[in-house]
Amino acid sequence: AAAPQGIPIGAAASADEYGETSPLLNPSYANLLSSQYSMLEPGNAMKWDVTQPTQTTYNFEPGDELVAFAQANQMRVRGHNLCWYTQFPSWLQPYAATATPAQMATLLQNHINAEVTHFAGQVFAWDVVNEAFDDSSAAALRDSIWYNQPGIGQTGTGYIAQAFQWAHAADPSALLFYNDYNIEEPGPKFDAVLSMVQDFVNNGVPINGVGFEMHVLSTYYPSATQLAQNMQALAALGLQVHITEMDVRLPVDASGNASAADLQTQAQVYQTIMTVCLQQPNCTAFQVWGVSYNDSWIP
Ligand code: G3I
Repeated sequence: AAAPQGIPIGAAASADEYGETSPLLNPSYANLLSSQYSMLEPGNAMKWDVTQPTQTTYNFEPGDELVAFAQANQMRVRGHNLCWYTQFPSWLQPYAATATPAQMATLLQNHINAEVTHFAGQVFAWDVVNEAFDDSSAAALRDSIWYNQPGIGQTGTGYIAQAFQWAHAADPSALLFYNDYNIEEPGPKFDAVLSMVQDFVNNGVPINGVGFEMHVLSTYYPSATQLAQNMQALAALGLQVHITEMDVRLPVDASGNASAADLQTQAQVYQTIMTVCLQQPNCTAFQVWGVSYNDSWIP
């Protein structure tokens, strides 16, 4: 209701990607998802562990289920994610242990091409690369099979740029995002991301925006001023910002219940972040990580 026409409000959603009964078949889950949100993002269904169960097979069926649900309910779909340092199918890490960078490049290119082509025209924005920088004060690139173990034959952020190029080639109409957490206020990780995307923009790498995951606490979240500053720094580069995975962790008692005061604080945090997004022209989507508390990854 608060969002002007055009800012999709989304939630991470699940189908039967891990073999359990799809929540989409649960009327209360399906009604909540279709009535409260105008966008969905597969929390897991489009990740490597689901989409490429063996080196020679792809499985897009759970993603197709979520796309079909979205289309039936006039919802947009964000894709997540094409290149990450974790959540691999069981064969991938052992393969990487003996593969050459050229073999890893072919593997990643084929995966991105297959998945983005499959969902072309159905997924309006992709998290192409997820969480590539570590949480150290240096905000270094994380070790990963795509960067340096053994990598795909690129140096520095080259593997990230290459992934964006491959995704753009597969669906030139999709918006392409780099997605990370702890970049919602000034700090070394935001500086590293800003420097990378500045370089990408300067060199014509097809990037459209940055995802701010916004996994925060009721006791610690970015100030409205600092969040706005980070969004404006990206706006200056012509880049969009999506709030991609917001949740507000808060204390619960032994029965898993939060106090009324903490729930009120939590609601205020959501409102604060949403208000900043609505005020910044380049903040173009707002998404929470889970349809309701029941599906949260947070214990
Ligand atoms: O329940 C199945 C089980 O039946 C199956 O045998 C097993 C096989 O691996 O998987 C189990 O599913 C687990 C799933 O959560 C349940 O929802 C997966 O193991 C587990 O890897 C998965 O964790 C996901 C986590 O990313 C992996 O790092 C969470 O659902 C998901 O919410 C979380 O999302 C991430 C974003 O992708 C990136 N940003 C951070 C965010 C929170 O960690």
